[in-house]
Amino acid sequence: MSHSDNLGSMISGVFPAWEEIPAVHRQERPVGQREYLVDGEIRIWEGKVQEVLSPIWIGGTGGFRQHVVGHYPLLTRKEVDEILDSAQRAYGNGFGQWPTMTVQSRIEHVEDFLMRMTDKRDEVVKLLMWEVGKTLQDSEKEFDRTVGYIQDTIGALKELDMRSSGIVTDQGVMAQIRRAPLGVVLCMGPFNYPLNETFTTLIPALIMGNVVIFKPPRLGVLLHRPLLEAFRDAFPPGVVNTVYGDGQEVIAPMMQSGKIDVLAFIGSSRVADILKHQHPSPHRLRSVLGLEAKNAGIILEDADMDLAVDEVLTGALSFNGQRCTALKIIFVHRKVAEGFIGSLSGRISTIACGMPWEKGVMITPLPEQGKPRYLGELIDDAVVHGARVINEAGGIINRSFFFPALLYPVNDRMRVWHEEQFGPVIPVVPFDDLDTPLRYISESDFGQQASIFGRDAGRIAQLIDPLVNHLCRINLNSQCQRGPDTFPFTGRKNSAEGTLSVTDALRVFSIRTLVAAKYNTQNRELVNRILQEHQSAFLRTGYVL
Ligand code: G3H
Repeated sequence: MSHSDNLGSMISGVFPAWEEIPAVHRQERPVGQREYLVDGEIRIWEGKVQEVLSPIWIGGTGGFRQHVVGHYPLLTRKEVDEILDSAQRAYGNGFGQWPTMTVQSRIEHVEDFLMRMTDKRDEVVKLLMWEVGKTLQDSEKEFDRTVGYIQDTIGALKELDMRSSGIVTDQGVMAQIRRAPLGVVLCMGPFNYPLNETFTTLIPALIMGNVVIFKPPRLGVLLHRPLLEAFRDAFPPGVVNTVYGDGQEVIAPMMQSGKIDVLAFIGSSRVADILKHQHPSPHRLRSVLGLEAKNAGIILEDADMDLAVDEVLTGALSFNGQRCTALKIIFVHRKVAEGFIGSLSGRISTIACGMPWEKGVMITPLPEQGKPRYLGELIDDAVVHGARVINEAGGIINRSFFFPALLYPVNDRMRVWHEEQFGPVIPVVPFDDLDTPLRYISESDFGQQASIFGRDAGRIAQLIDPLVNHLCRINLNSQCQRGPDTFPFTGRKNSAEGTLSVTDALRVFSIRTLVAAKYNTQNRELVNRILQEHQSAFLRTGYVL
């Protein structure tokens, strides 16, 4: 059998029969979720539900069927009002128990949540595999990274608290300057990191004293179900509320109510614009947005080719290219283009494809309905405009499975030049002059990151200087990525609003607030009394260790 026959039979046999799935990884019982969390209670929804289909198809006597992971509630306007009331009551216009609580006590609640969450690791990891098709290894990594992020957030808050616990004086005025919460935060995460990216906004928002309404992404709802009791038991009533359903039905009324103070949204700029415009007082709404990107890789003629191929392979294809930070277009110097695409194409043929629990697997089924068809259309369009699919079996589809396609030579007439494919398609553009990638990046609507591969310090420096004014992270001889989570993660243009990192997130969900007084005997005595008698949770000099 030839290599391409092998690939062909691997793709046609990629989906298993139920008996072929190791028992430990089977999802035996669907998650029939009818619960939602409001006002510290888990309520049962009796109305319509949305069925959740896995990207994984299962073979059986009657042919293949898409595995049913379960269902979740399709709430209505009535529940939306309950949820908004619950959140507003808990915030109490800033007078509520949670926003006025000491930092120490809020940290204790988050630590309690973390302990309860850790117990649910196996359940959440299994659902990540079945619901969004993420590999076992990456699902475990996502869970553990989230736990680490929460621990680091607690550490960062302690440090912030320590730094803010002094009294400053200037021009005869003394003050204590801290950060105070903003109000009700609506948190909406994406399907590709449904746990991690949601929690990188939800946890900092909570720990700074805000209350949260949390809507899981359309794909990636049920994996949050095991955490519902932990939210209920670890936080005071109404501090965390959950909402499920169609965006038009449940999110539009929330935004239109004007009762949302902060929108934390990871998704498309198109949806972000709609949501922001729905708010009746846009100037009062703060937004923390992680949006689309089309990060470019630039391969210079003196690049270490083996390293560039390695980094492009994982940078473009890990989790099937479904990362906002994925390398989504590659510019390669024409002198080395042939060698580069030859090696990359060879490497693609050897990557492991299969089900999320299979060892070493990199390419898995895609969760978005219609995605393989969309990627196929991008390829057809590129071919019409002069590109070829370079690798064996590139673009072959089996139901929700799509074998990666390497496209070359790509040009600006093709849709894949402009559109964020968010999937396993690697467009490669040859260039003679650095002006080609520079122009692409400067004219692009996206502004997140780029990767430069090369050895010549002078030439790389020449690229860094213009690129830092268009993008927010330039990676040298390394793929694009968000981590480590202590580094700032942001973007320009259509790619982001606000900066997220462990420390930056504490800032974006709070506002600098101070207590100030003229430095005179009367005020000194007054402030001293408040401090010595520990009368205020805000104005104090003791800090959390
Ligand atoms: O989807 C966007 C993620 O924030 C990317 O994170 O670079 O760690 O995969 P990552």
